[in-house]
Amino acid sequence: MTETAPKISTVSSRPTMDESIFRKFVEFIYDTTGIKFDDNKNYFLTSKVNHRCDVLGLKNDIAYYDYITTNVDRRTELPKFIDIITIHETFFFRNEPQLKAFERDVLAPLVAAKKLSADKKIRIWSAACSTGDEVYTTVLQFLKNNWLADINLEIVGTDISQQAVEDSKKAIYAQYGVRNIPSDMLKKYFKDIDGKRFELDESVKKFTKFSVANLKEQSDIRRLGKFDIIICRNVLIYFDANSKEQVLWNIYDTMSENSLLLVGHSENLYSYKHIFRSDRELASAFAYRKAPPGTEKLHV
Ligand SMILES: C[S@@+](CC[C@H](N)C(=O)[O-])C[C@H]1O[C@@H](n2cnc3c(N)ncnc32)[C@H](O)[C@@H]1O
Repeated sequence: MTETAPKISTVSSRPTMDESIFRKFVEFIYDTTGIKFDDNKNYFLTSKVNHRCDVLGLKNDIAYYDYITTNVDRRTELPKFIDIITIHETFFFRNEPQLKAFERDVLAPLVAAKKLSADKKIRIWSAACSTGDEVYTTVLQFLKNNWLADINLEIVGTDISQQAVEDSKKAIYAQYGVRNIPSDMLKKYFKDIDGKRFELDESVKKFTKFSVANLKEQSDIRRLGKFDIIICRNVLIYFDANSKEQVLWNIYDTMSENSLLLVGHSENLYSYKHIFRSDRELASAFAYRKAPPGTEKLHV
């Protein structure tokens, strides 16, 4: 008789978690981040939770749930959990047509107006910047057009993920991230470390600041101040109507009457006309202005 190897039951070998504990995690994630996990996310969440159980030596998902909700060390663990359950897909010069419209119809007139005014400061906020690619793409657009001579530019990148913010500050990118950067720019502003990793130059980084901020938290957002332009792309898709409304009002607070909000090409705000109105002339840049004051909060 041949002997078969005993089955080792590690936490990682369990395919999906029970419905009741999955629901608890979904609710916790929603309350903390505003992200709505669908029922089909059980496998994804199980694999992430199992990984953290293995790292921490916890016996199962229930033990991990207790750990992040009640343990004294939960403040240290929570950022790690958020890092692994958020999707950080991004790359330089994402969506070329939208960026061209942004440069031509939004940035160029703003720069022209600021050059004529006494106030030469332009503040831009990338509201869910992931690893910084979107932030640095915007700086590269300024550099390409020689707009920085008499403009005082500050681009603030924020994200809920601590790891993403750290990576933004490091600004070392793999081939995947830089593949759309025109080769002359890649050569000029990046150091090729080993043919696989590219380090961004200080001459680009110096216009930027990064910090952790949860779009759902009013206090995180208010401390950022006011912006001329807010770029909020490819993150609203993760929120339900309630979270979206909460996040949009938080963004609203960072804008003056002339500020513009730019969203992703698949993220229209037609259901939020009481907060933002699409600027028809800037439609190809997916730009919105604040709705007139006095409108009611519908969902929150
Ligand atoms: C798919 S990336 C988009 C990155 C970039 N804006 C782009 O379009 O290339 C989504 C980012 O949103 C962040 N995010 C998710 N929920 C958030 C929240 N409540 N507050 C701030 N950032 C959040 C994630 O951590 C992730 O880095």
